[in-house]
Amino acid sequence: MAAMRRRSLWGTRFGFYLAAIGSAFGLGNLWRFPYIVVENGGGAFVLLYIFLALVMGLPLLIGELMLGKLTRRSAIAAVRQACIDPLISVGSTPRERRLLSWSGKLAVFASLLVLAYYAVISGWVLHFLVRFVFAELQTKTISSSGISGFDPDQALQVLRNSGFLQVALASVHLLVTIVVVVKGVQEGIEKWVGNVMPIFVVLLLVLVVKALSLPSAEQALRFLFYPDFSKLTYSSLLQAIGHVCFTLSIGFGTMVTFGSYLNERTRLPGAGFRVTAMDTSISLFAGLLIFPIVLGTVVNVPGPELLFHTLPRLFLGLHGGFFYGVAFFLCLYLASLGASIGLLESIVSNWMDDSRISRRAAAWVTGFGAFLIAIVPALSSSVLRGVNYQGHGILEILDGILINGILPIIALSLALVVSFKIKANLKETEFVNDETITTRKLLSHWNFVLRYLAPGLIVFAFFLAFVGWLRS
Ligand code: PFF
Repeated sequence: MAAMRRRSLWGTRFGFYLAAIGSAFGLGNLWRFPYIVVENGGGAFVLLYIFLALVMGLPLLIGELMLGKLTRRSAIAAVRQACIDPLISVGSTPRERRLLSWSGKLAVFASLLVLAYYAVISGWVLHFLVRFVFAELQTKTISSSGISGFDPDQALQVLRNSGFLQVALASVHLLVTIVVVVKGVQEGIEKWVGNVMPIFVVLLLVLVVKALSLPSAEQALRFLFYPDFSKLTYSSLLQAIGHVCFTLSIGFGTMVTFGSYLNERTRLPGAGFRVTAMDTSISLFAGLLIFPIVLGTVVNVPGPELLFHTLPRLFLGLHGGFFYGVAFFLCLYLASLGASIGLLESIVSNWMDDSRISRRAAAWVTGFGAFLIAIVPALSSSVLRGVNYQGHGILEILDGILINGILPIIALSLALVVSFKIKANLKETEFVNDETITTRKLLSHWNFVLRYLAPGLIVFAFFLAFVGWLRS
């Protein structure tokens, strides 16, 4: 009950959407999605991703929100409660409890790792933002006629060569995140995310229209939407599942935390659907924006630098390009800040549920921990350049282990908690808001996915990836 008293509920339902969409919408959509689509050959992977987002991601998301809403706790305490609280749990053996309790802890650990690695990429975004601001100021003072000597490749090169710069930028980002979280849920998240997201979506749409007027647009549409299944690899299924988890913020415990702040009346299936639909659409917009540029240029830069190589090229070719550059990178930065806030908020909330630590102390200590971890990926293209596996540097290795390895496992175990440990009648009342057949049908689909389909697909994806690794 103590945690109940401390927990403030969302002031408005809109507040929840803003925070949940703010947490889902981030670098995963704009930075990560396009480059993993390239790595997995285009259309077939996009189709697989959309299918998995709706058929598997959405039910998992609803499950995590429900775990939070029913227990009014963050992941670690929520899992514990789902195993023992007679009001909501069907009961569990000590062995099950020990095993399942790992899922909550692992979720918090994953959040900390992602917070750190996210800070590094957010630092890249900040770097480009500052570059564009200076370029804009320069053209204003030197001439009004257009583009001066701004070279995106050189901006990237500076970043790549300076580990110190990357560490510094990541720490600035973490500092901003901590300050926002210390202020608390309502003021912290709602305000930030609320103002930026709609502007960003409009800006994205404008840029998509511009990108689609490039001569390579048709080629891009074909690449994105024409499914050539022979391009998929043994690891594509696992990569698609990992990315669905990452982009929808599943497997971090964040959505459990957000669910715990949810107001009693909020309907979870609808809430989950809106978040999933919005997030998936934004990833597709990102594809529509980036691929006409990729396919229209001779540079061939797959991997994590893709976004930073391509978009500035589009901006530089537009009238008022620097303005677009500033606006885009500012919005992208604020989106990644929104996501980072969600991550830190979730870790802090878990910590506060389990001890008497203050929000302030928990946020600062966690932020400092993330800073220490971030040093490693921040140095991956400079000091630690020599450390790589099959040509992938530390940043990509960390990304792979975390997103394709750890997240699906946590998502799976949280799904099992919801599916096997929470009383069926409680799940039913959360799901079925009237006696219509549709909601009953949805409930049984949802149960099936959580119990059988998601675990089966995840295990199969690991198996396929393993076979691919053996054959490589
Ligand atoms: N969903 C975010 C993205 O796509 O960038 C990543 C993320 C943010 C995951 C916040 C988890 C989280 F709590």
